Amino acid sequence: MSEPFLVLGIETSCDETSAAVIKDGTQVLSNIIASQIDWHRKFGGVVPEIASRKHVELINPVINKALIEAGVNYQDLSAVAVTYGPGLVGGLLVGISAAKAIAYAHNLPLIAVNHIEGHIYANFISYSKLEPPLICLTVSGGHTDLLYFEKLGSYQILGRTKDDAAGEAFDKVARVMELGYPGGPAIDKLARKGDPTGVDLPRPMIDSPDYDFSFSGLKTAVLNYINHKKQKQEEIPKADLAASFQQAVVDILVTKVIKAAKDKEVKTVLLSGGVASNDQLRRELTTKVKELGLELYYPEAQLCTDNAAMIGSAAYFKWQLDQKPAPYSLNAKPNLRLG
Ligand code: KG4
Ligand code: ZN
Repeated sequence: MSEPFLVLGIETSCDETSAAVIKDGTQVLSNIIASQIDWHRKFGGVVPEIASRKHVELINPVINKALIEAGVNYQDLSAVAVTYGPGLVGGLLVGISAAKAIAYAHNLPLIAVNHIEGHIYANFISYSKLEPPLICLTVSGGHTDLLYFEKLGSYQILGRTKDDAAGEAFDKVARVMELGYPGGPAIDKLARKGDPTGVDLPRPMIDSPDYDFSFSGLKTAVLNYINHKKQKQEEIPKADLAASFQQAVVDILVTKVIKAAKDKEVKTVLLSGGVASNDQLRRELTTKVKELGLELYYPEAQLCTDNAAMIGSAAYFKWQLDQKPAPYSLNAKPNLRLG
């Protein structure tokens, strides 16, 4: 039997300091996530300077905890993987520096991982037997990408957002509605009490012939609605507004995913990224996908939002393809895109 491939994954691209040990790409031996949300909440969003400082404080304890919980030493590891973009440059640099130091000190290959690919591979942790061809919708705070996988490890970008990401729209709308940060879970919760037809909102690009998205017009429509209500000194029906906004986002996402699944004739659809935890998105996509006789998968809740297990998993699959370690000159790429 061959030796297990043990990856220490490190993730510091935004406001979670995380380290994980992953065996053979799909088995999570540990996944430590130190969330900084409480430090950022009072500012209504992530403050990059605070995030960098917290990553510096947390990175070593988090890595140590990940190794202890997994019951492994540095000597047992096969590789160190780290997110090198996209994300906040200060945070990325903390993770990259830690990963480089460990790789150098223990003579391990360094594997550079695109954060968005990490979100996609989170699905392979939850379901190790996924087979292409498949469609994957990645929806997070910074990205909305629709991908087609013909085989594992290589994908085609079918479409992406032209302006705001879906999660960004949730966060911005929640902010103007004074629902706090992060906005997605707050809207998700409030929407359960509201009428999704209560406020008439647009669904930009829903019928466009491509697979691209646009959310900034929808966000502006919500802002205009709120301003109009305030001018008339009328009460804002917050639950109905949350439900109507969420319905519009879900309608757009589901329509494009189903169009892609039909056009590409896939049997499997994946959801990934923080917005993949949205209850209504999961429910409506499950129904539509079932109607077509297809299967929908999404990672378990802890693997949807930022975590290092997904980075360790993506690194494993990347390594299987090319076995090319990243150089020690590896730098942070805050605007890294997929493809
Ligand atoms: O993937 P993630 O943790 O970080 C990024 O890579 O951006 O995604 C965070 C985003 C935030 O915009 C957050 O509001 C959104 O995911 N989010 C949600 C939900 N949970 C998190 N959006 C809608 N519904 C949710 N339940
Ligand atoms: Zn993320």
